[in-house]
Order: sequence, then C-alpha cells, then structure tokens
Amino acid sequence: MGGPSMPDEDGRHVARSAVTVALAMREDLRRVADIEQVSFSDPWSARTFGSLIEEPRVYFAVARDGADRVIGYIVAWMVADEAEIANLAVAPEARRGGVGRSLLDAALDTARGHGVRTVYLEVRESNAAARALYARRGFVEIGRRRGYYRRPLEDAILLRSEISAAASPETPAVEGVRRR
Ligand SMILES: CC(C)(COP(=O)(O)OP(=O)(O)OC[C@H]1O[C@@H](n2cnc3c(N)ncnc32)[C@H](O)[C@@H]1OP(=O)(O)O)[C@@H](O)C(=O)NCCC(=O)NCCS
Repeated sequence: MGGPSMPDEDGRHVARSAVTVALAMREDLRRVADIEQVSFSDPWSARTFGSLIEEPRVYFAVARDGADRVIGYIVAWMVADEAEIANLAVAPEARRGGVGRSLLDAALDTARGHGVRTVYLEVRESNAAARALYARRGFVEIGRRRGYYRRPLEDAILLRSEISAAASPETPAVEGVRRR
C-alpha cells in the first residue's frame, strides 16, 4: 500500500514517510498522556503509562513525526503465544496519515517475533475509525462484552487476529506489553 510517494495536497504522504516507531521513553510520557486525554473519555493517567515502561511483557511504543514530535503510541501485552492490544491513539492533528497503521504493524511484528500466534483487542462498538483499521489488518469479531465501557456506557466488540509465526528480520526485542 503506497510506499514512498509524492506528497498529496495536504502533505499526508510526507508525514507518512517520515514517521518512525520506537519504544517509549520516560521523556515521552507527558506527550503520550496529553494525546490520551484528548483521545478517550476515560483516559489512563501519566503514572499508568510510566509504570509500563519497564514492564517486561509490555510493548509500549511511540510514533514520531519528521520533527521528532510524539504523535501517537501503542501498548500491547504479550504473554506466551497471545497478545492483547491494550491501547492505541494518534494525536488528532496527525490522524488519517497512516500513523495508527504503522503503530499497529510495529506491535504485530514484535508479537510475531516473540512467537505470538493470536492477538486480541476490545473496541467500542461505535469506534468506526479503529474498527476499520483493525479490519484492514485481519482482525475479526469474536464476541461482545455488554456495557464494558463507561462514559458513555457502551458495548465492547472483541476482536481476534491469528498472525503467522514468521518473524520479520527487523523485529525489535520486546522491552517494554497492557490493556485498555
Ligand atoms: C483509531 C486511530 C488510532 C487511527 O489512527 P490513524 O493514524 O488516524 O489511522 P491511519 O491513518 O493509520 O488509518 C489506517 C486505516 O484505518 C481506517 N481509518 C482510520 N481512521 C478512520 C476514520 N476516521 N474513518 C474510517 N476509517 C478510518 C482506514 O481504513 C485507514 O486506512 P486508509 O487511510 O487507507 O483509508 C485514531 O483515529 C485515534 O487515535 N482515535 C482515537 C483513539 C482510539 O479510538 N483508539 C483505538 C482504541 S481501540
């Protein structure tokens, strides 16, 4: 999909090609918490994010733009051959530029590299953007948790993806895996 390309009118392809994904560091926490605040009605605290940085089974990564600014993050738990995408958000001004997909792909690659075969996640029923992103990456609906979310009360749709065990050569080590 895409690859290097000329920028389109709103510069989306420029942003896309400049995005990098790397493990989160302490200095990223404030910006991550700010993005979390504007992205969710029941946000995780900065302290919660801070507690994930050194968790051995947590993959916590941030996306940066060409100016090195944190524009999104993902948190995944990895235990044995299962993983759960626990949190994913992109700064509102950086959405629809492929950042969410890059973060998800980085987490799925890392999971593959650690022998994960099945990835789960929960998503608000009304969250069309996230559901479209996950569907494009092969996630299928396997259930529903009634009244799972607060503010507003809403069902969670439970999704699952079976991923291949083949590790990609560039897969980074999991140093840092949580749940939303
Ligand atoms: C969901 C979210 C992370 C997507 O991030 P993003 O960087 O905007 O997504 P991408 O640009 O990588 O989009 C990848 C694909 O997802 C789908 N998608 C993303 N946003 C969409 C939207 N608003 N409407 C419909 N489909 C959308 C599209 O299929 C898109 O591919 P395309 O651009 O080729 O059509 C972002 O909207 C967000 O942070 N939302 C608030 C937090 C949230 O809901 N997190 C998920 C919790 S489970």
